[in-house]
Order: sequence, then C-alpha cells, then structure tokens
Amino acid sequence: MRPTIPDSPAAAGPDADAVPHRRSIRSFVARAGRMTVAQERAWRELWPRYGLPETDDTLDLDAAFGRAAARTLEIGFGNGESLVALAKAHPDDDFLGIEVHRPGVGHLMLRAEALELGNIRVACRDAVEVLSRQLPDASLDAVLLYFPDPWPKKRHHKRRIVQPAFVALVASKLKPGGRFRLATDWQNYAEQMLAVVGDCAMLENEFDLGYAPRPDSRPLTRFESRGQRLGHEVWDLCFRKP
Ligand SMILES: C[S@@+](CC[C@H](N)C(=O)[O-])C[C@H]1O[C@@H](n2cnc3c(N)ncnc32)[C@H](O)[C@@H]1O
Repeated sequence: MRPTIPDSPAAAGPDADAVPHRRSIRSFVARAGRMTVAQERAWRELWPRYGLPETDDTLDLDAAFGRAAARTLEIGFGNGESLVALAKAHPDDDFLGIEVHRPGVGHLMLRAEALELGNIRVACRDAVEVLSRQLPDASLDAVLLYFPDPWPKKRHHKRRIVQPAFVALVASKLKPGGRFRLATDWQNYAEQMLAVVGDCAMLENEFDLGYAPRPDSRPLTRFESRGQRLGHEVWDLCFRKP
C-alpha cells in the first residue's frame, strides 16, 4: 500500500527526509493523490496498452512500441501535456514517459486514447530505477526534463533530481548525437543544472557555456503559461552527446 504523505515536495516540510524510502534520497515524495473515475478506468483498461512493466529486465523498446523509430524520453511528465503534444506532432517518432504520480499517468493515458496515439509508452516508477535497470544504453535520441521539482529549501537541494550521478546515467542512455534538454523556472536550480550538466564529461553544451533559447520543440504547457502570466522567467538548457 502506498503511504499517504504531503501533497507536494514544497509542502513536505522538515520531516520530508524522514519518509522511509528504499533508496536514501529520492527526488519526489509518493503522493497518494486522488484519482478521478476516468483515471481509474484508464489504469484498468489502458495500462495494458500504454504501460511498461516494472521489472528489472532490460526493455526491448522495439518490441514495446512495435517498431523501430527515433525515441524521446520525458522524465517527470506531470499530467503528460508536453508528451502528448509531441507525440501528436511527430507520429513517426516514439515517446516514452516516466512519472511516479499515478493520477498524472492516468491523465496521460486518457489523452493518448482520445487522440488515438500509438507512439506513447509510460512507466510509473522512479526514473532513476527505470534508467538504471530497464533502459538499454545508447537507446534514446532525446531526454527531456521539464520543470523538475525545484525543492526550493536549501536543506532539500539534495533531493533535486539533477545531480552528477543522474546526469551521467541520462548521458549513458543517449545515442551519440542525442540531446538532453532541461527547463526550469527557478533561477537557483537553473544555475545548478548549468554547473552539474556542464561538468558531465559525456555531454557538451550546445550553447557555449550558457542557457539555450526556448526551443520551438518544447510545447507551451498550462504550467508555463500560468508562470508567464505571473512574470516567471524560464531557463532552457540543451546538451548534446558527441
Ligand atoms: C513540477 S512537476 C512538472 C511536471 C511537468 N514536467 C510539467 O512541466 O508540467 C515534476 C514532476 O516530476 C515527477 N517526478 C519527480 N521525481 C521523479 C522521479 N524520480 N521519477 C519520476 N517522476 C518524478 C513528479 O511526480 C512531478 O509530477
């Protein structure tokens, strides 16, 4: 049974570090989250179509998608707005999403069904586990990390997903020429991303040592447009595996 714990990392409070985890530090707290009736149905009826099994075996992605194609992974897709927009816009490419929040996964499956998308697959598991245990090396053309949980309090910065070991793991899953794109609306996290990803020997910054312009390929989500209305700045980064 999933533990009931605070609704958002920012709300997790000082005891967040005391939540028992299999790994000592995770980038998320497992939210119980309320599922709508439609999302419950998605989990019952659509998971067999879109879901990837939680095993420790290396996935055969060609078998999972039923074809060979260029592949993009989005880590922490939330409700799947970006991933669905990308999958709809690029029917010849495949899109893999990882998200631990079950209602968000349900939401994405409902949108994929409504749009009759056949090029999306999802894993509902810690992205670090999916990357390290399930994804083959050099299997991805792009990895997207858009607006990861910022963990704004300094004592929680260790929970931020962008850490040297995570970046090395992402880099190992990219094909040569593959891209790692990131975006955040927290300046302090943007600076951390620039430093940590910039230090990864397997990746090079496509924009000298700085931030990237907003890529046309990144769909404008409701989250970002709300931020724009509130005057939030957004920092994009784009790294390439030579
Ligand atoms: C701030 S939200 C952003 C969601 C989405 N990318 C967007 O731009 O709207 C961050 C998401 O990452 C997910 N997440 C955090 N750590 C994760 C991990 N280790 N594995 C999978 N998902 C994770 C959270 O559940 C949350 O939905």
